[in-house]
Amino acid sequence: MEVVILPSPEAVCARAARIVAHLLTEKPEAVLGLPTGSTPRPLYAELGRMHREEGLSFARATTFNLDDYVGLPPGHPGSFRRYMDEVLFRHVDLPRARAHFPDGMAADVPAGAAAYEAAIAAAGGLDLVLLGLGEDGHIAFNEPTSSFASRTRMKTLNERTRAANQAAFGPDPVPHHVITMGIATILSARRCLLLAAGAHKAVALARAVEGPLAALVPASALQLHARAAVLCDEAAAAALTLRDYYRAVDARKPDWQREGWP
Ligand code: GLP
Repeated sequence: MEVVILPSPEAVCARAARIVAHLLTEKPEAVLGLPTGSTPRPLYAELGRMHREEGLSFARATTFNLDDYVGLPPGHPGSFRRYMDEVLFRHVDLPRARAHFPDGMAADVPAGAAAYEAAIAAAGGLDLVLLGLGEDGHIAFNEPTSSFASRTRMKTLNERTRAANQAAFGPDPVPHHVITMGIATILSARRCLLLAAGAHKAVALARAVEGPLAALVPASALQLHARAAVLCDEAAAAALTLRDYYRAVDARKPDWQREGWP
C-alpha cells in the first residue's frame, strides 16, 4: 500500500481533491464512493471551490455514499444525506438523481442492501472509493470483526463509534444500526484512497498499513488491493515504522507515476 505523508489535514485533502479532479477530467462519467466524517470536509470544500473557480464538473458523475444510519429520516442533522448536501452537493453540479445512499429507511433492510449492490454494479462499479478511518480501524461502518468478504448490509455500531458520532446528533441518541458497503464492496473498487488526519488516528493507521491482515482491523483489508493508497498528515503517521521509507518513495517518484494518483 502506498503511503503519502503530508504536512497538514488540509494538505491531505488538497491532494485528494486533485486526484478526484484528475479522474473527473479523464473520465467525466466516473463513479465515486464517498465518505462522511470530519476528515473529508476540507476535501469537499476544495472540490466546491474547483467547481466554482476552475470549472470542475460533476455533471456526468455518479456517487455512492459508503453508509448511512438505519431508521434516521433524511432531514435529521445526523443523516449523511444532509451532511453531503451541506458539504458538497449543493456546491457542485452533480445531478441529485445520481447521488446514491444506502436506504436506511427501507422497510426491508436486506433488500435495500442488495439493491445498493445492484445499483453500484449497474453504474459500472466504483472507479474510486474515498475512505476515512475510524479510531478502531473501521472503514465505512465496517466495525472490527467485519468479514473481508462482506457486501452492503446492516451492521451494529460499537459504543466507541457511537460516541465519536454523537456531536452531529445533539441530545438525540446515535442509532445503533447502520447500513454500510461491505469490505468486499470497497475492495471491488478500481482504486481505494484512505484519508487519515490527527494523532487520534495514528494507532489505527499503523495497524491498517503495517499490521497483519485482521478482521479486527477492517482497514487492513486494503493491503489486499493492488491500487490502494493512504494520504495522511504527520500526526496520523506518527506510529508508522517505515515513515522514512514512505517519504523517500514520495520524494523520488517519477512524474509519470504521479499522474492522477498520489
Ligand atoms: C464514521 C464514518 C466513517 C468515517 C469515520 C471517521 O464512522 N462512517 O466513514 O471514516 O467516521 O470519521 P472522522 O473523519 O470524523 O474521524
